[in-house]
Amino acid sequence: MRIHQIFFDIFISLCLINLNINIDVATCNCLDHQQFFLLRLKENLVFNPATSKKLVHWNHSGNCCQWNGVTCRKGHNLSLASNDFNSSIPLKFGKLKNLRGLNLSNAGFHGQVPAQISHLTKLTTLDLSTSLASQNILKFQNPNIGMFFQNLTKLTQLYLDGVRVSAEGKKWGCALSSLQKLKVLSMSSCNISRPIDSSLSALQRLSVVRLNLNNISGPVPEFFANFSNLNVLELSSCNLSGHFPKDKFQMQTLSALD
Ligand SMILES: *[C@@H]1O[C@H](CO)[C@@H](O)[C@H](O)[C@H]1NC(C)=O
Ligand SMILES: *[C@@H]1O[C@H](CO)[C@@H](O)[C@H](O)[C@H]1NC(C)=O
Ligand SMILES: *[C@@H]1O[C@H](CO)[C@@H](O)[C@H](O)[C@H]1NC(C)=O
Ligand SMILES: *[C@@H]1O[C@H](CO)[C@@H](O)[C@H](O)[C@H]1NC(C)=O
Ligand SMILES: *[C@@H]1O[C@H](CO)[C@@H](O)[C@H](O)[C@H]1NC(C)=O
Ligand SMILES: *[C@@H]1O[C@H](CO)[C@@H](O)[C@H](O)[C@H]1NC(C)=O
Ligand SMILES: *[C@@H]1O[C@H](CO)[C@@H](O)[C@H](O)[C@H]1NC(C)=O
Ligand SMILES: *[C@@H]1O[C@H](CO)[C@@H](O)[C@H](O)[C@H]1NC(C)=O
Ligand SMILES: *[C@@H]1O[C@H](CO)[C@@H](O)[C@H](O)[C@H]1NC(C)=O
Repeated sequence: MRIHQIFFDIFISLCLINLNINIDVATCNCLDHQQFFLLRLKENLVFNPATSKKLVHWNHSGNCCQWNGVTCRKGHNLSLASNDFNSSIPLKFGKLKNLRGLNLSNAGFHGQVPAQISHLTKLTTLDLSTSLASQNILKFQNPNIGMFFQNLTKLTQLYLDGVRVSAEGKKWGCALSSLQKLKVLSMSSCNISRPIDSSLSALQRLSVVRLNLNNISGPVPEFFANFSNLNVLELSSCNLSGHFPKDKFQMQTLSALD
């Protein structure tokens, strides 16, 4: 599969410390080329054997699906979450055209989220979230969020917590309103401002909405009460004002409200 070449190019240049790598390969059995790719990946990494406790045991024996740090599942998912890459997101990720799930949360990537990620049109899950404590900050500046999600219409889960989206309500609302399959929208601490745009009311399937730690300075949008699957609604520290429309939120599905 294409994935090997891409990884070579990507990883050769990175110097990693504390590596804790989790890769989902495409089938339940470790295929020869996948094992080969993982071993070449290991060879090309500069790592500290004392701290990279999983990687250090990867070797030619056994089924790579049993290696510590490797998870094999059906599907086309890549998770490099919880690493310390300390670099920008490699542009070549954009060549992994069949990816369904991409998890780069707390992976130490920083800077602009490359437009190439927006070419992964089969994605159903995208997690770019970073914890507040992280010094590695991802941002949507150029390209901004305006066009980025235009073709990612299969997304059901989108996690951008801690990413500097830095856009006003109308802009990010319109940008996301075409994601009709979205069930999870998690955008806490994204530096978004101005009232939530009513275009978001199109996202009728939302069950989890997290927008806390932003500057939304406006009333609580009543249209959230129209989402018939809404389960979690987090709007704390958003600089909201006015009365909470509690008569609207008589929803049996709601299990967490913040
Ligand atoms: C090689 O891999 C096997 C199976 O995963 C493991 O039991 C063994 O400890 C590894 N050898 C080394 C030298 O790490
Ligand atoms: C991404 O990986 C992190 C760390 O393993 C995990 O906590 C998180 O739930 C994953 N995100 C998704 C969308 O599965
Ligand atoms: C990340 O890289 C920069 C410059 O390449 C370096 O100054 C910094 O110490 C690195 N941070 C970590 C946590 O390795
Ligand atoms: C990969 O697929 C599994 C099972 O389908 C799912 O639980 C997991 O969240 C997926 N990972 C990503 C990063 O999408
Ligand atoms: C979305 O796809 C269309 C058709 O392939 C293309 O013309 C357009 O440039 C794409 N948009 C983005 C933001 O990549
Ligand atoms: C937050 O967003 C505003 C624009 O809405 C921008 O001017 C400002 O620089 C952003 N702040 C940070 C820390 O990125
Ligand atoms: C919050 O947004 C309002 C306008 O919507 C703006 O006047 C104010 O400066 C913003 N506050 C911060 C801390 O950025
Ligand atoms: C909250 O919103 C008001 C009115 O838009 C604005 O003046 C103020 O700066 C905002 N506060 C914060 C902490 O963003
Ligand atoms: C909620 O849905 C009802 C019925 O579809 C509609 O009349 C109403 O305008 C919607 N309310 C909001 C705030 O979108």
